[in-house]
Amino acid sequence: MAADAAVPEERRRPPLAVRLRLWRNRQIARPGFRRLISRLPLLRRIADRNAAALFGLMSGFVHSQILLAGVRLGLYQALLARPADTASLARQLGLTATRMRLLLGINADLGLTIEVAPDLWTLDDAGVVLASDQGLSAMVRHHDLLYRDLLEPDRLLKGTAGETALGRYWAYARNAEPGLLSPEAVADYSTLMRESQAMMAACLLDAHDFGRHRRLMDVGGGEGAFLIAAGRRHPGLGLHLFDLPAVADRATGRLDAAGLAARASVTGGDFARDRLPGEADCVTLIRILCDHDDARVAAILANLHRSLAPGTRLVVAEAMRGTDAGARLSSAYFGLYFLAMGAGRCRSPGEIADCLVAAGFRDIRPVPSPNRLIAGIVTAVR
Ligand SMILES: C[S@@+](CC[C@H](N)C(=O)[O-])C[C@H]1O[C@@H](n2cnc3c(N)ncnc32)[C@H](O)[C@@H]1O
Repeated sequence: MAADAAVPEERRRPPLAVRLRLWRNRQIARPGFRRLISRLPLLRRIADRNAAALFGLMSGFVHSQILLAGVRLGLYQALLARPADTASLARQLGLTATRMRLLLGINADLGLTIEVAPDLWTLDDAGVVLASDQGLSAMVRHHDLLYRDLLEPDRLLKGTAGETALGRYWAYARNAEPGLLSPEAVADYSTLMRESQAMMAACLLDAHDFGRHRRLMDVGGGEGAFLIAAGRRHPGLGLHLFDLPAVADRATGRLDAAGLAARASVTGGDFARDRLPGEADCVTLIRILCDHDDARVAAILANLHRSLAPGTRLVVAEAMRGTDAGARLSSAYFGLYFLAMGAGRCRSPGEIADCLVAAGFRDIRPVPSPNRLIAGIVTAVR
């Protein structure tokens, strides 16, 4: 060890794994090597797959815009209702037949539409999911803000991009007094959160049995979409929602309209500062911690710890970093998303656990998530 430390860093030999990786990289960089691989049947399949994945990365923005065009023009909704031919779809969407054929063709290339008989079109699997989940279309539509902010990703990374559209949209993100936000400032993001809650709720309700609790408080619960889903799944569960005052007002209306007024109560306040009601035996934080930098996460969790009764179960569910394909896709997306938003980051279950330990929570466990693309889940006990 001592001898190694005496060798200047640039002359130290890298470990074998690093040397192998560098050798491999040098080979892949050589056009001759790639030509050789393309002639060997087994390796060729791997090379083709990698080339397709690289092209997918390069063209991802175009794919997103195909999706945006389909959502805005109402293509997926039109085909969800019934199969159609090019001419009738063209009339319905207000396109020429030529452009309609183009739109149908490029959507078919992406697995969104399918020509089931000569010039008879319907939705392919991914198109059906997109058309039947309102939240996905809402997310696609709000990407126009994100993509504007991402036009110069290098400036975002250097911190020279200035104010961003997403920063304005998520009005609480960098706000020292979020409790004072107006009804107008919270309206758009609250609608998006309600519309995009269905998949998250299904994922979390399958992962954790909320039926064993007496009273559930959803902290930062938005307009109550998760509480409504939980209340329907577990008719005996008492419900409480905590959010900023302007959002809490919206939640009251939604919970009433869902017929849950008698079972549900709502409190408005700042979850990083104000004492939270302590009657719940289960508390959820859904898509909350990821929105905030470490210092505010520490303040939120410390405030929760102060407010909740010992023994209360805490359930954290949000996009989390991980090694499986779903978690990696989600963390790459949210990595840049939170940068554009100006606050927050995508943490691993281990990092969430560290935050919980630091705030005084115990018995911290990652819970297997039915869908890591949607959420990682960590539970703890106050
Ligand atoms: C990303 S949204 C998630 C909403 C909901 N949990 C869901 O998954 O649909 C974050 C929520 O936290 C609320 N929030 C943000 N800062 C807050 C604060 N300081 N105190 C209380 N709620 C806050 C927002 O109003 C918003 O409803």
